[in-house]
Amino acid sequence: MFEVADISALQNHVQHWKAQQQRLVLVPTMGNLHQGHLQLVQHGQTCGDKVIVSIFVNPMQFPPGTDFESYPRTLKEDAKKLEALGVDGLFAPATEDIYPLALEKTTQVVVPELSDILCGEHRPGHFVGVTTIVAKLFNIVQPDIAVFGEKDYQQLVIIKKMVDDLGYPVEIQSSATVREDDGLAMSSRNQYLSDQQRSIAPRLYQLLCAAKEQVHSKMPFSDIEAGAMQSLTQAGFKPEYFSIRCANSLAPASAEPSGNKKALVILAAAWLGKARLIDNISV
Ligand code: PAF
Repeated sequence: MFEVADISALQNHVQHWKAQQQRLVLVPTMGNLHQGHLQLVQHGQTCGDKVIVSIFVNPMQFPPGTDFESYPRTLKEDAKKLEALGVDGLFAPATEDIYPLALEKTTQVVVPELSDILCGEHRPGHFVGVTTIVAKLFNIVQPDIAVFGEKDYQQLVIIKKMVDDLGYPVEIQSSATVREDDGLAMSSRNQYLSDQQRSIAPRLYQLLCAAKEQVHSKMPFSDIEAGAMQSLTQAGFKPEYFSIRCANSLAPASAEPSGNKKALVILAAAWLGKARLIDNISV
């Protein structure tokens, strides 16, 4: 596995592979790799010939006052894990190479509307940061395929729309959420939880599973959402949203007459101490 920080060094490898007609897969990450990331990599290895993982803690996607400074950075350990998986290249650029200008002077890629709802409503500017860095990585790496996790469901929908709207020749692949034995979705931010909070955290996924059952039992969606928000608060969370949406458009969904088979997704975000947890379930 090669490991480079330099953009032109990365592009030399890419050009060499492209000349050999190799299908290139990019797995963009912010590092601090856990089993969830490693599954994205393994999924990527089944889709193409060469897999490049990028590790870049992207300042543009951290709204002011959030955890950019304290976000765990573990490049050495991450590199070992990727090497062991047989990844072909690790690209870990420096912030000043990705953003030579101040962030407010840098061109941004905006996916309107979808970026302002759900997590976007609570973290203004977050998704503009995500789409800007993903567009930059696509331009630098020029992958044929890119892999994203379904845990960040809204991010996945937004990136697919960006790819459609801007005509990127990149196939977007998604990979299922990896969970701890008790159902908690794996996340780098789980390490912010105290032992006591960690014992409460699986409740978020339990409530998503319960809501899925309630959707099937034709309970009014607004009652399901309100009940789950109340249960989260009672369990000790500070919930931001718990919302039943159309799976493709993320538009608010309503209970449809029986026979309607529209795909839905239930998404939730809630604070537990210093950790902001997000999760979702498909219906
Ligand atoms: O999902 C993430 O880890 C990040 O949002 C991404 C896609 C790597 C962009 O920084």
